[in-house]
Amino acid sequence: MNQNSEAEIQMQYIQKCREFLEASDQPHPTFHIQNEGCQMNTIQTESVAAMMEQMGYVKVDTPEADAVVYNTCTVRENANQKIYGHLGHLKSIKKHRPDMKIVLFGCMMQEPHVVEKIRREYPYVSLVFGTHNIHKFPELYCRTLHSDSQIIDIWKDSDEIVEGMPTSRKYPFKTGVSIMFGCNNFCSYCIVPYVRGREKSREPQAIVHEIEKLVEDGVTEVMLLGQNVNSYGKTLAAPVTFAQLLTQVEQIEGLRRIRFMTSHPKDLSDELIGVMAKSRKICHHLHLPLQSGSSRILKEMNRRYDKEKYLALVEKIRCAIPDLSLTTDIMVGFPGETEEDFLETLDVVEKADYDTAFTFIYSRRTGTPAASMENQVPEDVVKERFGRLLSLVQEKGRRASSRFTGTVQEILVEEENREKGTLTGRTQHNLLVHFPGEPELIGKYVNVRLDTCRGFYYFGHIVRENEV
Ligand code: SAH
Ligand code: SF4
Ligand code: F3S
Repeated sequence: MNQNSEAEIQMQYIQKCREFLEASDQPHPTFHIQNEGCQMNTIQTESVAAMMEQMGYVKVDTPEADAVVYNTCTVRENANQKIYGHLGHLKSIKKHRPDMKIVLFGCMMQEPHVVEKIRREYPYVSLVFGTHNIHKFPELYCRTLHSDSQIIDIWKDSDEIVEGMPTSRKYPFKTGVSIMFGCNNFCSYCIVPYVRGREKSREPQAIVHEIEKLVEDGVTEVMLLGQNVNSYGKTLAAPVTFAQLLTQVEQIEGLRRIRFMTSHPKDLSDELIGVMAKSRKICHHLHLPLQSGSSRILKEMNRRYDKEKYLALVEKIRCAIPDLSLTTDIMVGFPGETEEDFLETLDVVEKADYDTAFTFIYSRRTGTPAASMENQVPEDVVKERFGRLLSLVQEKGRRASSRFTGTVQEILVEEENREKGTLTGRTQHNLLVHFPGEPELIGKYVNVRLDTCRGFYYFGHIVRENEV
């Protein structure tokens, strides 16, 4: 079956659902949708939301709705607990809304023990599917509308990428674009390769075509997304590097800003640094997850770089792009982490000058190699280290991000604050700036002088061209 025909088949199911709902005694049904997890999940949530809207559903902000849909994440245990919490609440809503449809999909549903628990303890959930058959949502939902029993459809993996499914987005002027799916890296703590399957890249033509369409539709900033964008294109029949893809995307007229996430340090090439440094559109912001500063722990994590290589890479990139904003992910409490290992992490934070670091407490994920490692670190030790890491990250971050004080930066205006007459936007470095202005400027680029830095954001004012 070719890919277009799959999208067409699903469009027919959307139509069928629509006809069924129009003929029912609920012709204007409502739905509530919520996303957990990463930006790649967000895109898929937006796609499912677009399909629900095409079926005739109207989106609402509360779970008091005719259908409630959760796209789940399982990267850490607390993401799972959140979903079980929501389900408890939905049970009480369903008592007075017996026809309400409850749909769960995404990463957490790829775990057999989760599905078993839902089957046993949450029989009022209507539909469960995973990460590999999201394009089948209209077909599955159609079945759900005609049935009162629980429908579960989980695929183990898939080598197909279905193009052309409906999409929607939060902002008319900026959006994420998935360029690849899955992950082949098997970091020893991480569940993503098990729930997302093997790495698959989209064809560059399909990506460029999608972005061209987005630009025609008003988008000027895109974020290219993948678990490890630096290995983009390696599995294609005609391999393409990520740097080559960026060069193609750069040529799209009307597109003004290109971002990407996430870069794995082991695959970040000189070619990419060169393309970034030369580019007029690629933002000077790099998210480069560290995870740990200890070479011994990095080896246990299967990250395939060490502390020295990471720091050398940071130096090389800063040399090529001096105003770079660098952000990272760091984990504390990986099995066997000693005080000395942890001090190595603090040392990298001292040296790398991150603008922001997302910090996580290691969470044991069933089925990953790290879950069965002995010497899991006691909770009180981890919490204490986490506190120390957080204060260093915040102190360093405040200093790093205030370095633009007094400069004029181009801002993409995103929204009006709750306080009327104040706008919020971002610099290419992804720094948040508030300034007085009228809502007509939303979606436009303006030059703003960053007058004062308040921790992680700035206050500024728009400057006229002759003031720049
Ligand atoms: N592909 C990206 C990360 C995706 S997950 C990369 O390789 O950098 C986002 C972040 O969640 C990771 O960078 C890591 O810091 C964190 N994470 C992943 N698994 C985790 C676990 N088991 N416990 C705690 N944090 C975890
Ligand atoms: Fe997980 Fe590592 Fe893949 Fe990132 S690169 S998704 S941390 S296995
Ligand atoms: Fe979570 Fe899946 Fe993303 S586990 S972080 S939603 S790939």
